[in-house]
Amino acid sequence: MNQNIISLILFLLISAVPVYAQQDNGSNTTSSRILLKIPYKDREGLMKVMRNNLQSLNKMISAMAEDDFKSVQSIAKNMSFNKKKGKGLSRRGNAAFMAMGIKFHTEDTAAIMKAAEKRDRKATLHAMANMVSTCVACHSTFRVMEWPNNKFYKRPNPMKLVLPKEFKATK
Ligand code: HEC
Repeated sequence: MNQNIISLILFLLISAVPVYAQQDNGSNTTSSRILLKIPYKDREGLMKVMRNNLQSLNKMISAMAEDDFKSVQSIAKNMSFNKKKGKGLSRRGNAAFMAMGIKFHTEDTAAIMKAAEKRDRKATLHAMANMVSTCVACHSTFRVMEWPNNKFYKRPNPMKLVLPKEFKATK
């Protein structure tokens, strides 16, 4: 795997969040994205999870550079759905957010695991790109920060999780 391509993928990904923020057209607010009305504590929790997502992706790209499909598989497994992730998704108060999160933690990561198991470099990279599309789609749709005047919110009631039929949750 060419180092330049890896750098490019990483650069595009890291750029994604600020680029979408800038597209909120000059009004200096993050107005066009849907605000998740959650408590500060939960915002912090969500952002921490997100930074871990980026770190996992970083590790996955490095593993691909070494043809280390075993590591790719185990990183994707760690990113897969479990009850804890389900709980996090169900209490953000938005069904579309939950659906995108479920897609990310079930279909997207499963596709990466499947392709990596076959040691199919091209298919694994395609599956990784599909996952990143879900990251990007969610970032362009939702936000957790308000500007100006961040307000305080109570935690929304948890929603009912609907997982893909064939998917079995671990832990
Ligand atoms: C289900 C929705 C969703 C998915 C999927 C998602 N994110 Fe996020 N992410 C968010 C939200 C919402 C924010 C806050 C954005 C804002 O307020 O501007 C965020 C913020 C971030 C941040 C900024 C963290 C910080 O501390 O500033 C990073 C980095 C990030 N996400 C990485 C990722 C990566 C990498 C993926 C995919 C592997 C991913 N996210 C998938 C919803 C999502």
